[in-house]
Amino acid sequence: MDLSVNLGNITLKNPFMPASGTFGYGLEFAEFGDLSQLGAIVTKGISLNPKKGNKPPRICEVKGGMINSIGLENVGIDNFQEKLKKLEDLNTSIVCNFFGNTFDEYISVAEKLSSFRRVDVLEVNISCPNVKEGGICFGTDERMISELIGEIRKVIKKPLWVKLTPNVSDITKIAITAEKAGADALVVANTYTAMSVDIASRRPKIKNIYGGMSGPAIKPLSLYNVFRCVKSVSIPVIGCGGITDISSALEFLIVGARAVQVGTANFINPKILWNLIDDLNGYLSREKISLMELIGSLITE
Ligand SMILES: Cc1cc2nc3c(=O)[nH]c(=O)nc-3n(C[C@H](O)[C@H](O)[C@H](O)COP(=O)(O)O)c2cc1C
Repeated sequence: MDLSVNLGNITLKNPFMPASGTFGYGLEFAEFGDLSQLGAIVTKGISLNPKKGNKPPRICEVKGGMINSIGLENVGIDNFQEKLKKLEDLNTSIVCNFFGNTFDEYISVAEKLSSFRRVDVLEVNISCPNVKEGGICFGTDERMISELIGEIRKVIKKPLWVKLTPNVSDITKIAITAEKAGADALVVANTYTAMSVDIASRRPKIKNIYGGMSGPAIKPLSLYNVFRCVKSVSIPVIGCGGITDISSALEFLIVGARAVQVGTANFINPKILWNLIDDLNGYLSREKISLMELIGSLITE
């Protein structure tokens, strides 16, 4: 079956890719399957300088998922360039997730990443506080998003995906702003702010008190956000949040996501992305429907 999907200015061999931060820099998962078979590899969020992240405990399990407050630990752009060399021969697209603590940092990382030949797509994580503007999250402020995406667009020539935060009152406003500012596709969405308490010690289970919730419990929330974004913008939407098996992936495709990202489920079954490729093939042949017919085929009346 033809599983290829067109995402505007890039075509992936299938709709399945990992979600940033849950698949290392790619090679960590090479022992579980042929990385070249995946629709794309999405690397851990990269910043200008190396980042140690938050103090532990920084992850905890909750019913239906997990909460993390890793604090965007990463090796920094220069060390990342070295890691990228090891992905040179892979026959799949490489999507590099990145972020900054300030406007200027975002622009510098984008410019550098875009100059690396092996980077196919830049995925900007806007769920970060702007330390120069009192810590307001870039991704919740339409003015900041508009300026940020507009400026990044000016310094890069590669496709730009914008990964939205769902922690806003109306995600479609943010989606439309990102589209107008020059995003080529949207990833919907990042984690949901959450917390959990250990009743024996009466302390938060996460040192940072709160973190981002991911895993199967958020799937209906993300699915709804994808549904609304697909209706609001004309650029492709990539679904992300709580996918654990083929039926959850299919739900996202049926509401109109052109591709999907899988995060937390990689920790439970590190072969899940390869399993999803086989299962999608099986589903499409059984149902005698092409992937293109399936995407966005939701019936609402
Ligand atoms: C441990 C961990 C680290 C993450 N790191 C990043 C990151 O660096 N950049 C980013 O945009 N999202 C990051 N995320 C969010 C995921 O990419 C994804 O959006 C989220 O987990 C929802 O998908 P899921 O329910 O399939 O896990 C991280 C998530 C987890 C669980």
